[in-house]
This record gives sequence, structure tokens and C-alpha cells, in this order.
Amino acid sequence: MIVSYMDWNDELSIGIEEIDAQHKVLIALVNRLNDAILERKGSAVTADILAELAQYTKTHFIVEESLMRILGYPDYDDHKQNHENLIQEILNLQEMVGLGKKSINYELLHFLRKWLTHHIMKSDKKLGTYLIKKGIATKYHKSSWLERILG
Ligand SMILES: [Fe+2]
Repeated sequence: MIVSYMDWNDELSIGIEEIDAQHKVLIALVNRLNDAILERKGSAVTADILAELAQYTKTHFIVEESLMRILGYPDYDDHKQNHENLIQEILNLQEMVGLGKKSINYELLHFLRKWLTHHIMKSDKKLGTYLIKKGIATKYHKSSWLERILG
């Protein structure tokens, strides 16, 4: 990483280690995108990183939405809608990039940082509080595929 565009800090913690770790992966991918833009790696590389970010985001949302359903989260519909809006936004951008009508630039990074920060601080923290109240484990002790990504 050359410079970090988005930093993790404890303010972003929702109190559940596994979800926090997934959010850290998302932040790491935003930073990788920033590095690729700074280093002028070209549109093929930035498009690949964006595809990886989109894929990982979908996986992460599936995890959160499963937990919401399993534990009967009352704000499921709103939260899921927020997730779907972001996925749609990224899909639209990928399409525009594919057509050569848009590029992967700081406008996107800014949007992603703002979206993630806002979503974690508002929606995910509220979800975290609910899940903890329902008795979800806040620490994970088994080795996870996340460790391979976070190092
Ligand atoms: Fe979420």
C-alpha cells in the first residue's frame, strides 16, 4: 500500500469480530483500488480490483443478510434494500466502464468510502447491537479464510 485512502479505526467496530474483519477486507480492497489508480496501473487492473470488490461485497452482504434472517432482525427489509442499492450502483458503474462512458477514478473511491463509513456507522452498528443482544459470538477463535486476506 502506498498511502491508505481509507483507514480502519475502532469507531467503525460493530462489536462482532468476524463482521469487523469482513469490513476490514472491504477497506483493504478500497485501498488497493486507490493504489492502482495512484500507480496508473491502467483500466484493466482497476476494473479487476473493482470486480473483486463487487464480488466480496456480495459475499459479505449475503453473510449479514443470513444472520438477520436467522435471528429475526426487524429492520431486515431496509437494511437489505441498502445493500441492493450499492450492488446496483456498482453494476451500473461497471456497465458504464465497459462501454467506455465512465472511468474508475477518485469519484468512485470517494463514493465507496462515504457509503461504507455511513453504512457501517448507521446500519451495521444497529444490526450489531441487535445480534449481540441475541447472543451472537462476538469473537471468533477458529482460523478463518479472512486471516489469509488480512495477513
Ligand atoms: Fe450491512
